[in-house]
Amino acid sequence: MAGGGRQRSGGRRAPLAALLLLLLLLALVAWPAGGLDNGLARTPPMGWLHWERFLCQTDCAQEPRNCISEQLFMQMADLMASDGWRDVGYQYLCIDDCWMAPTRDKQGRLQPDPDRFPSGISKLADYVHSKGLKLGIYADAGNETCAGFPGSYGYYELDADTFAGWGVDLVKFDGCNVGTLELLAEGYKNMSWALNKTGRSIVYSCEWPLYQRPLQKPNYTEIKQYCNYWRNYFDITDAWTSVKNILDWTSSHQDSIVDIAGPGGWNDPDMLVIGDFGLSCDQQVTQMALWAMMAAPLLMSNDLRRISPRAKALLQNKEVIAINQDPLGKQGYRITKDGNFELWERPLSGGAFAIAVLNRQDFGGPQMFAFSTAFLGSGLACNPTCSIQQILPTSRDLGLHSWVSFLKVAVNPTGTVLLKTVVIEEKLVINNGSSHSPDPL
Ligand code: GLA
Repeated sequence: MAGGGRQRSGGRRAPLAALLLLLLLLALVAWPAGGLDNGLARTPPMGWLHWERFLCQTDCAQEPRNCISEQLFMQMADLMASDGWRDVGYQYLCIDDCWMAPTRDKQGRLQPDPDRFPSGISKLADYVHSKGLKLGIYADAGNETCAGFPGSYGYYELDADTFAGWGVDLVKFDGCNVGTLELLAEGYKNMSWALNKTGRSIVYSCEWPLYQRPLQKPNYTEIKQYCNYWRNYFDITDAWTSVKNILDWTSSHQDSIVDIAGPGGWNDPDMLVIGDFGLSCDQQVTQMALWAMMAAPLLMSNDLRRISPRAKALLQNKEVIAINQDPLGKQGYRITKDGNFELWERPLSGGAFAIAVLNRQDFGGPQMFAFSTAFLGSGLACNPTCSIQQILPTSRDLGLHSWVSFLKVAVNPTGTVLLKTVVIEEKLVINNGSSHSPDPL
């Protein structure tokens, strides 16, 4: 009897289960492709973003060279194409806040400031595209941008359509002046859907977790469904303290942010300030090395018209860029902190690893750090043997090592030595206990 009962009710459940399955399939088909599924940012985006270096300078009468204007972006586009930036991967030329006119036009559309962008964004996009580059623009999920220009709240579709119509390729969406956490989430999701609906390939950059975190733990699985990369921590400034704070925040939250990063969705520790005023040469090496370790978007905020050959060579270092852009797309993490030293690793494709040794001591001379290759890649990076290449601060071959080799590197104060290990299957000649002298900078 009981069995018969189960059978009967099971019989009623069958169409119900089929219906649920159908609904699930429909939901999956109807689910709009978010950041993760838009096919973009399969490696961390690279480019230039005006904010840290040029901020909200709108006074072109006083500051004609440095104000936020189409001229500034056209000059940067010229240099990105002519000075090798584009050719090593810096592709997105991005406008940040303060490009807009103070009000929307009669149709409710965002419009650029007419004095500073007299030709319009569409023409600027054409110009940028003619240089083989892509154009990024900025908007905000709330009522106003952080600098007080019109926000996109209530206008998500119209703004997405406007950007797509202009030929924009990337949107940085800020989260200032949003009333509640619900509106914040809705704003980020709605803009993602709206961009997707335009049918244009537009990289979507978010600051959702940064604004959410003080009140609520971010759900990174959800964020990655909507965004191609996202800011977690405060704005970078042109200062070593700022770079250190970002690194400390990242390593202390690595358990919750590292695994989610991958092709299509990246943690964004903010712009590169290499080539500006605040970082020493060693600190610039540290920023470049650690941004490569963190699989960070590489968005420079500097003046390409005035950049030292040394900063340029560092930013254009192809071996470091290759680590940043590694197709495996795994973010690196800190494996140990030993006194003033931090040891970081990043798994790369083909069983290789990037290794960074950071010396946090900010006085004295170069310090030696010794470590066993057995620590690296949970013992696999150099097993049974590997070759080790030093990439920063200078490129050199450190030879072959076994999985129990000890490596010693000298690291300048606040500097970083960046290495790459490549595993070799056969047992080969081993360079045990090698020691390497400091690199002059
Ligand atoms: C916020 C963002 C910055 C920048 C400014 C512009 O502070 O975090 O990256 O976009 O707004 O006002």
